[in-house]
Amino acid sequence: MYLTGYDISILRFTWGVIEDILNHSKSIKSFNIRVREPRDLDPGQFIMLWIPGLEEVPLSPSYYDGSLMRITVMKRGPTTEAIHRLRIGDRVFYRGPFGNGFKVSNKGRYLLVGGGYGASPIIYTAHKIREYGYEAMYVEGVKTESDALFIDEAKSLGLDTILVTEDGSSGIKGLVTDYIEEVISEYDYLLGCGPEGMLLKLLELCNRYGVECQLSFEAIVKCGVGICGSCELYNTGLLVCRDGPVFDSRILSRYLGGV
Ligand code: FES
Repeated sequence: MYLTGYDISILRFTWGVIEDILNHSKSIKSFNIRVREPRDLDPGQFIMLWIPGLEEVPLSPSYYDGSLMRITVMKRGPTTEAIHRLRIGDRVFYRGPFGNGFKVSNKGRYLLVGGGYGASPIIYTAHKIREYGYEAMYVEGVKTESDALFIDEAKSLGLDTILVTEDGSSGIKGLVTDYIEEVISEYDYLLGCGPEGMLLKLLELCNRYGVECQLSFEAIVKCGVGICGSCELYNTGLLVCRDGPVFDSRILSRYLGGV
């Protein structure tokens, strides 16, 4: 059974206190949370955040150092609107981390691609890659300049940093996948998170150019531990919460075909 050998401590709720709040835009905020109990959390893994009286929300932190965890939350409904109303000093509860994150221990050149709000786990991954001392380029693709999230932070890490805007309001004008096609052959690994269409295009590019990729997919996550079946990826039998949310190109190509 799946839970055999599972570290069951991650099923237990823990909590933290909000220390700081950053407003990125009307619909996106980041919360710095001082956590009470350090738990190993790889970039790309997710937690189930809970505010009493509301549903749990799966969130992949945008930073974590064992003591401080940053979550970046987009307003999408009543629960995320309630999270946006939280203040400094409020407590939040969570269980996890769950799932498989990005693996960044191999030496090489990394191309990091965040589409919109999907940049959250990518910037945390960027921090890890810098810890390892590997080379990386950070690329964020958004509709317009005001949607950009972590461009300054990526620059402060010393990464080559590119912003791609669909309307040309800042950086390079166009689709992020068009830009990636121009540079992908210079890299050993591509790590991506963002809208489904972007991810499938990135998978196709990685297959075409022979670049190993790891892509983080979103799904409706309820239990978070592979029991309810709500998060199946495209009728493949793969569960985003258990087998992902980060999948490598070998698995994706086997289950999704040549794309
Ligand atoms: S959320 Fe229940 S199986 Fe994935």
